[in-house]
Amino acid sequence: MVYVTRRVSFSSAHHLRNDGYDEEENKRIFGKCANTHGHNYELEVTLKGEIDHSTGYVFDLKVLKDILKREFVDIADHASLNDVPALKGLNPTAENVVVAVWRLIEGKMGNAKLHSVKLYETVNNIAEYRGE
Ligand code: NI
Repeated sequence: MVYVTRRVSFSSAHHLRNDGYDEEENKRIFGKCANTHGHNYELEVTLKGEIDHSTGYVFDLKVLKDILKREFVDIADHASLNDVPALKGLNPTAENVVVAVWRLIEGKMGNAKLHSVKLYETVNNIAEYRGE
């Protein structure tokens, strides 16, 4: 089994809130993240599979990039994550983004299996989902 990873970048705004909380509670729990602000995100998607001996690839990473762009990045880039349909009704945290991206792309990579979706929100804040 070989693991291959494609990294893509996007820049998005978001604000964190729970509509079930009042303004004071949102400010208390989410602090400055309750205000609209942006991040330069790095998204890493790892696939696993056997090497296709005709191509030498587990999966063509250019095709994976195109899937990521079509399903998520072109919708989220230079937009607010709060408005992205796949995140509708969810607080657009890094945690919710990785699960949403997993659901958007799962089953679209032929024989290669989705192994992990990892999002760097900042260099220090990272979320990863492995479908468990
Ligand atoms: Ni943020």
